[in-house]
Amino acid sequence: MLDVIKARRSVPKVRADPVPREVIEQMLDVAVWAPNHRLTEPWRFYVLIGDGKRRFAEIRRRFRASTFPNPEAPEAQKALGRIYQDTMATPAIIAVTAHQAQDDETRHEDTAATFMALQNLMLAGAELGVGTYMRTGPLIDNPEVRTLLGVEDDRRILAMVYVGYPAETPQKRRTPAAEKTVWL
Ligand SMILES: Cc1cc2nc3c(=O)[nH]c(=O)nc-3n(C[C@H](O)[C@H](O)[C@H](O)COP(=O)(O)O)c2cc1C
Repeated sequence: MLDVIKARRSVPKVRADPVPREVIEQMLDVAVWAPNHRLTEPWRFYVLIGDGKRRFAEIRRRFRASTFPNPEAPEAQKALGRIYQDTMATPAIIAVTAHQAQDDETRHEDTAATFMALQNLMLAGAELGVGTYMRTGPLIDNPEVRTLLGVEDDRRILAMVYVGYPAETPQKRRTPAAEKTVWL
């Protein structure tokens, strides 16, 4: 486990080979063992594959198009084609959502627990040889994405996790914990 925690990387480039449903289910089964105050089980996961993924790719392309002054320009078209293709070439995309309670404390704790579940999911992926990449950004609050998933009004999408077998695994660095730690 100690090695997997250190070896897990956000994997931006994945192969197109499908990730079997059982493998994704295994990752989700581990995710829900996150610590969870009052066992509220605030998480819900939405797995986009096939047609769901295609519709998400279209929304992603449309959203990106809205950020270009002239989406018809050749360079914009190229970028939009790439974003659509990259999304389609990702075997699965998992939206991770958390229940948003009315009271601040529960909402904060449920959000934290769901992020822990997300980390479990990514670590399980690393153990199973599956790459993951969590992305936030404006798309997670996009109404079209919410409608596509059928997310209830009292839930927030915390991240979209892109899932696939790594084509390459980047190197990352961390400051040693000793430099971030005070012992008293
Ligand atoms: C809350 C959170 C949000 C993130 N959102 C994005 C994102 O929107 N786009 C992105 O490229 N990476 C995102 N990441 C991934 C980080 O870029 C990545 O974890 C960081 O580069 C460290 O790399 P590593 O995960 O390989 O250690 C996010 C990570 C966290 C924890």
